[in-house]
Amino acid sequence: MATERTLSIIKPDATKRNLTGKINAKFEDAGLRIVAQKRIHLTKAQAGEFYKVHAERPFYDELCDFMASAPVVVQVLEGEGAIAKNREVMGATNPADANPGTIRAEFAESVGENSVHGSDAPETAAEEIAYYFSGLELVG
Ligand code: CMP
Repeated sequence: MATERTLSIIKPDATKRNLTGKINAKFEDAGLRIVAQKRIHLTKAQAGEFYKVHAERPFYDELCDFMASAPVVVQVLEGEGAIAKNREVMGATNPADANPGTIRAEFAESVGENSVHGSDAPETAAEEIAYYFSGLELVG
């Protein structure tokens, strides 16, 4: 399996509860390497642009408000099959459906406030990484 990179976001519900280190330990224990990372506070417009694929969904406005409600940690994770591996470590979008031991099973508060985001495919990973990071910031 090829080495991949994927975009991860530790969301406001998790940064507010001081869970960045515990979540990063889950990534590293799974063999994912954090090759770029920064803490930023998104505006609602920046969150809206990132999640524009969901613009027609009923939860879009709430999602953008939430993502702009407190700082997030954006990061690039690298490893063998990193996109699928990260999704495994995160668990299902709705924490009620997430497997035991996953980040969302342990930390997420609801389907909306679900602690982490991860890219879902190679094309979206490339786009999402480029949204937050320049090539110079990726130091694998
Ligand atoms: P994420 O993986 O970041 O991708 C889109 C986000 O929309 C998702 O995680 C959730 O935070 C949010 N989301 C998905 N479904 C719902 C829902 N039914 N209600 C509120 N937010 C949702």
